[in-house]
Amino acid sequence: MSLLVDNIGELVTNVPGAGEGGPLGIRRRAAVLVEEGEVAWVGPAADAPAADGRIDAAGAAVLPGFVDSHAHLVFAGDRAAEFAARMAGEPYTGGGIRTTVGATRAASDGELRATVRRLRAEALRQGSTTIEIKSGYGLTVTDEARSLRIAAEVTGETTFLGAHVVPAEYADRPDEYVGLVCGPMLAAAAPYARWIDVFCERGAFDADHARAILTCGQAVGLDVRVHANQLGPGPGVRLGVELGAASVDHCTHLTDADIDALASTRFDCMCHEGGHTTTVATLLPGAEFSTRSPYPDARRLLDAGVTVALATDCNPGSSYTSSMPFCIALAVREMGMTPAEAVWSATAGGARALRRDDVGVLRPGARADLIILDAPSHLHLAYRPGVPLVRQVLHNGVPR
Ligand code: NIG
Ligand code: FE
Repeated sequence: MSLLVDNIGELVTNVPGAGEGGPLGIRRRAAVLVEEGEVAWVGPAADAPAADGRIDAAGAAVLPGFVDSHAHLVFAGDRAAEFAARMAGEPYTGGGIRTTVGATRAASDGELRATVRRLRAEALRQGSTTIEIKSGYGLTVTDEARSLRIAAEVTGETTFLGAHVVPAEYADRPDEYVGLVCGPMLAAAAPYARWIDVFCERGAFDADHARAILTCGQAVGLDVRVHANQLGPGPGVRLGVELGAASVDHCTHLTDADIDALASTRFDCMCHEGGHTTTVATLLPGAEFSTRSPYPDARRLLDAGVTVALATDCNPGSSYTSSMPFCIALAVREMGMTPAEAVWSATAGGARALRRDDVGVLRPGARADLIILDAPSHLHLAYRPGVPLVRQVLHNGVPR
């Protein structure tokens, strides 16, 4: 079965040189042919080939599906009261993670699976065709392994975050907990994980513990991403660069040395003018929104030539949103990004953060993951915040 998405007013391809708009590679009056889950052809609507089926975009904008490269969907319980307390002046410290750990351990597989599927479906409706999902609310060998097993049922982008915090029962023995994470927990988790992550932050894991855990993960074939510099300045970003991380995430508190370290990973490529950085800075504005914290300065990173991704950080504590359009709007309004930069970061940028070249882009051979907006232009994602603009989603070529 082939399917033609026809009559596209504005097609964002993320293929630079494919049209206007620099990196967005925008084509006007375009069409996309989809076959066997992949993009088979992209070109002017007037030249569109015949197909078995047709979707009329009616002049609307079409984009690659969003690539949400950072989410924590395997959890139980609710922390709305903690959110309300923050909005009444309480600070966010990450202490609530242990509340979610308790609820997650007490939940059945079925309950966790239902939550993961509900949130995955919610994200898909808002245009996220690729999503990364972390463990990190189990923090025992069995609870981390089952979290990843359940996450792997809905995505290939699974991340072992056994080093989210030191659980209460190890509070006075952090070295022992690091040994558990590097030993039996990693062994149980690795079969279900592609990535390894550590919350490298004061109150969670310091640089030495984080380095030990991340290198153990690398030794069994997991690639590195790091929660870094969220609550204050710290060593996380530079550690991520040192270990060749695909992404350092949050990046709210950066020194010039952190920016220089990220910029030093730049390499030239045909796929993006000015090249990319091996280590991407993934910004998570939902967390600053929900913790009433200062937003990261995306402009500073972009001006230094650092590749920037945007993701939701969807989790019950610091950012309970699955909406990439919401994050795009925040990034534009609060973080110094242009609408074009934010859309790129939410699609191709997320793909870079996951080291994927088959998503976040619409060219022959890419996954047929695309969204049709209820709007004539990608600009509307930031211009019309809070409005459900994703009219239709194609995931692996299948209309959802
Ligand atoms: O990315 N920073 C660490 N982990 C999560 C928050 C987890 C929570 O508060 O439950 C984050 O923001
Ligand atoms: Fe996170």
